[in-house]
Amino acid sequence: MSEKFLPAAHFLSTQHLTHAQIFHLLDQAQHWINPAGQLLLPAPLLKNKIMANLFFENSTRTRCSFEISGYHLGMQVLNFDVNTSSTQKGESILDSVRYLQAMGVELFVIRHRENGLPAWLAKQLGSSAAIINGGDGTGEHPTQALLDIFTIRRYKTDFTKLRMAIVGDIRHSRVAHSLCYALTTLGVPDIRLVGPAELLPDMALTSNITRHEDLISGIEHCDVVMALRIQTERMQENTALNREAYFQQYGLTAQKLRHAKTDAIIMHPGPMNRGVEIESMVADGAQSVIFEQAKFGVAVRMAIMVELLTHAVD
Ligand code: CP
Repeated sequence: MSEKFLPAAHFLSTQHLTHAQIFHLLDQAQHWINPAGQLLLPAPLLKNKIMANLFFENSTRTRCSFEISGYHLGMQVLNFDVNTSSTQKGESILDSVRYLQAMGVELFVIRHRENGLPAWLAKQLGSSAAIINGGDGTGEHPTQALLDIFTIRRYKTDFTKLRMAIVGDIRHSRVAHSLCYALTTLGVPDIRLVGPAELLPDMALTSNITRHEDLISGIEHCDVVMALRIQTERMQENTALNREAYFQQYGLTAQKLRHAKTDAIIMHPGPMNRGVEIESMVADGAQSVIFEQAKFGVAVRMAIMVELLTHAVD
């Protein structure tokens, strides 16, 4: 990477990424995945730089993936423990970040329940440190979208002919929001948001995005089917769904997936609730790329971190 390619010091959203920027990051990540799909260790390109994971919401994949990516690049990784930190004594997140920055942290990965919090922090810091959005409320999860797209590209070469169904709780899904922005930029002509009406978004849909309350017609002839978790923690109590009824109607089963293409790939960003949005036979089946998504995420996140930290912004 010889010149700066991302538009800012931060990675907050997929909404304003161009086609070229998305493909640039995927191509950089590809350097660390061999043809058999195995992760290759990079040179320690960010040796001795310090990053901090600040996760104010629970996480397994994203936090650990960033931690592993940082180690592979030679970084020192600080896992800020929110529960034992001085944020519990009333310190603001901005002050916490500024103190850590004063101690030498150059990159912060932030997850927070409040939409827009990582972007707000980025605005306060300017270009003095890099912020990556590790998931903000129901807003965006841009690194997840990039790793999902990397995974799709390994199996489906032409985005301009792709049919993809995203099934489940789209309304509360930051993953779906970031994916829809990026897939639309890549020219995907047919994105179907599938789920019960109360879990479909109110957002204005572009002409390539349609809503489907019926699962079977929603996944019909699709190349990619992604299941999403029902995010009960973001719902009002009176909108919480019956898990058994949901599985009957929207749970991905081998039988229902006969309506997608025979070579369709099955995805899930995790965490999975087996027996609710997906059955184990599908999650662990031959068409599933769910665990590959997590593996490729390490390469994609390394590419984003290298891009942010090796190209100073003026
Ligand atoms: N996909 C994802 O964001 O998983 P975690 O919540 O475990 O980070």
